[in-house]
Amino acid sequence: MRKKITIIGAGNVGATAAHWAMTRELGDVVLMDVVEGIPQGKGLDLLQGGPVDGFSYRIEGTNDYRDTAGSDVVIITAGLARKPGMSRDDLLAKNVAIVKSCAAEAVRHSPDCVLIVVTNPIDAMVYTAFKASGLPKRRVIGMAGVLDSARYRTFLAEALNVSARDVNAMVMGVHGDNMLPLVRLANVAGVPVTDLLSQEKLAEIVKRTQHGGIEIVNHLKTGSAFYTPGLAAVEMAEAVLKDSRRVLPCAAFVEGEFGISGCFLGVPVVLGAGGVERIVEFALTAEERAALAQSEAVVRKQMAATGL
Ligand code: NAI
Ligand code: 2OP
Repeated sequence: MRKKITIIGAGNVGATAAHWAMTRELGDVVLMDVVEGIPQGKGLDLLQGGPVDGFSYRIEGTNDYRDTAGSDVVIITAGLARKPGMSRDDLLAKNVAIVKSCAAEAVRHSPDCVLIVVTNPIDAMVYTAFKASGLPKRRVIGMAGVLDSARYRTFLAEALNVSARDVNAMVMGVHGDNMLPLVRLANVAGVPVTDLLSQEKLAEIVKRTQHGGIEIVNHLKTGSAFYTPGLAAVEMAEAVLKDSRRVLPCAAFVEGEFGISGCFLGVPVVLGAGGVERIVEFALTAEERAALAQSEAVVRKQMAATGL
């Protein structure tokens, strides 16, 4: 049975996610946007890469949710992106309205889907999608941890002059300045990075990771990152579609894990056909717990601001 993936928002992140989904041969893709012509044009352009790249699945662009019916995974990237001088929180009010309507419409046509939310501020938007969709909490997941961890791993690999593939490192918590890149557990092929890099260098890498999004915004000036964000969302979708039980950091609804309940927060999860199969809980140090509590405070403030 062919899988079906809908990507809502055919902008930078959405179109890039569609590109990765096609080249990874995850299934048929529907690219949906409110702007007439953009998803159709980008969809047709991507489809024509099939003979060259060798993929055989279809992609179609649309402005009509009926074309999204029966999707296994829906990725929401619709909304406004950050511009210089704009925080993720500035986006909140506008993107709540957009994500609410996208989530409700998508699930009306694909009631069995797993929803992956990308729109910022992500920890509030995944909560918005959860409320608006009526889906069980395990089937609504936010993308940020895969991206933030990829940045962290990249910076560690650069500092050590090793392949980023061999760097295992994770970022937990909120997608923002209070995110928690875990230093204690980061390693290169099993060797702790604390044995390989000075405390000063590690602190510098942690700070750069926490500001990884704005570093790119400041370069681009007209928008935010999209290549790795699109890839990160597709990495999560692939784990769901293939039921591969990957362990990835995602914004998931916590119910007592790490001592926190009732909000979406970046934590390591096992991703499978049902969405979040389980949250992988482990003991944090007092310092890590305090940092995660700061993340929680930011997320709760954002949740309150959604008015939901
Ligand atoms: P973009 O501006 O290139 O694309 C957004 C698209 O959404 C546009 O094509 C627009 O027409 C569409 N759209 C707006 N309202 C819509 C609606 N009601 N229904 C369907 N489509 C609608 O922005 P970009 O760069 O693709 O970013 C998208 C979102 O993803 C932003 O909120 C951005 O901040 C967020 N983001 C989140 C990341 C994360 O780690 N969670 C990483 C990168 C971006
Ligand atoms: C990022 O981290 C803008 O949240 C987006 O690149």
